[in-house]
Amino acid sequence: MGEMYTKHAEKYADAIENNAYNGLYERPSTLALVGEVNNKAVLDLGCGPGVYAQHFVNQGATVTAVDLSEQMVQITKQKLGDAVTCYAQDLSDGLPKEADDSYDFVVCPLMVHYLEDLVPLFKEVNRVLKQGGWFIFSTHHPLVDFEDDAFSNYFAVERITEDWNTVGEPVEVSFFRRSFTNLFDSLAESGFTLDKFSEGQPDPAMKEVSPETFDKLSRRPNFIFIRAKAN
Ligand SMILES: C[S@@+](CC[C@H](N)C(=O)[O-])C[C@H]1O[C@@H](n2cnc3c(N)ncnc32)[C@H](O)[C@@H]1O
Repeated sequence: MGEMYTKHAEKYADAIENNAYNGLYERPSTLALVGEVNNKAVLDLGCGPGVYAQHFVNQGATVTAVDLSEQMVQITKQKLGDAVTCYAQDLSDGLPKEADDSYDFVVCPLMVHYLEDLVPLFKEVNRVLKQGGWFIFSTHHPLVDFEDDAFSNYFAVERITEDWNTVGEPVEVSFFRRSFTNLFDSLAESGFTLDKFSEGQPDPAMKEVSPETFDKLSRRPNFIFIRAKAN
């Protein structure tokens, strides 16, 4: 893993709390698909600094939060203490600590693009969800990362490495770009039925704080948002 979520974990935590892309676009768009979680069992995958976990705890859910980065796990534990179960796990190895049929919701914001193959994790998500439970996740819009030149192949799963300025200095991040076909086939192969698809909308509050980003995101989606039901 790159250093964004380890060495820079504290700065990342501060940056995404209220910024435009996370606080006023990604989070409201994902939460619009999650809905009511009071008294529900929620598993937060790739929990990062625990902003989602905190929201679900505040809503009255029982929350388990998982992340590859020990630093992110520590930040989440410092924030939420005994209010969540939080532990480190590489999700490309699945969910070995989780029992079958134990969650009403699995929420996984902005994490699946760090996995080359989605099917092993999606099958694990299906296993730990109760029948009819919900899997909600967000990820990069496939077209945002697609280089439209004669040599690129939209249908391939491609590793992309970029410098991101999220924490106020460029930090190299590597992730995978995949087609809509790959994404939806992976869901179907893992026992999910698509329930809702969205390309999100910036929160109107962004108009005041970041008018240029609001204008851009109102015309060009950056992420996609999916709600699927475990069969
Ligand atoms: C963009 S952050 C999103 C954090 C949080 N979901 C949010 O939206 O606020 C991505 C998170 O995924 C975690 N991650 C990346 N690869 C992972 C893996 N293989 N297993 C578990 N977590 C992973 C990173 O450590 C990081 O905390």
